[in-house]
Amino acid sequence: MEQTLSIIKPDAVKKHLIGEIIGRFEREGLIPVQLKMMQFTPEQAASFYAEHLGRDFYDPLIDFMTSGSSIVMVLEGEDAIARNRALMGVTNPEQAEPGTIRADFAESTRLNCVHGSDSVASAEREIAFFFSQS
Ligand code: PPS
Repeated sequence: MEQTLSIIKPDAVKKHLIGEIIGRFEREGLIPVQLKMMQFTPEQAASFYAEHLGRDFYDPLIDFMTSGSSIVMVLEGEDAIARNRALMGVTNPEQAEPGTIRADFAESTRLNCVHGSDSVASAEREIAFFFSQS
């Protein structure tokens, strides 16, 4: 079993897609084992996306991620990191495979509904960022 961090971003929460997205994960055997609803502070968003500091999309990304509530959860399942990213589709929804979350619901590379850890190392870092061991 593997764990990954998933975020349902503010655009998807505002469009009432929480149940739809979690349902897709559950039907594929990616089960939420920790979950919370929160609105990122500017400090949290800046720290979470620190690797993108200096990119032209960084400031609008921070504004977007602090614009409303997100769902942050740990998904557990076999090969969870890769399978979550397959269900999400690629960053740009115009290039995402039909039937993926981003192809079906995302508006742009910024308003793209979901985040998923991209490696074992980032999953460990991102889970620890939001959830304590207990
Ligand atoms: S990159 O270019 O490979 O570093 O991009 P990627 O790792 O796929 O995702 C970067 C995150 O920033 C968000 N974002 C954008 N990316 C690229 N271009 C633009 N204009 C942009 N605006 C926002 C994108 O949604 C990724 O967010 P996460 O939450 O990591 O999926």
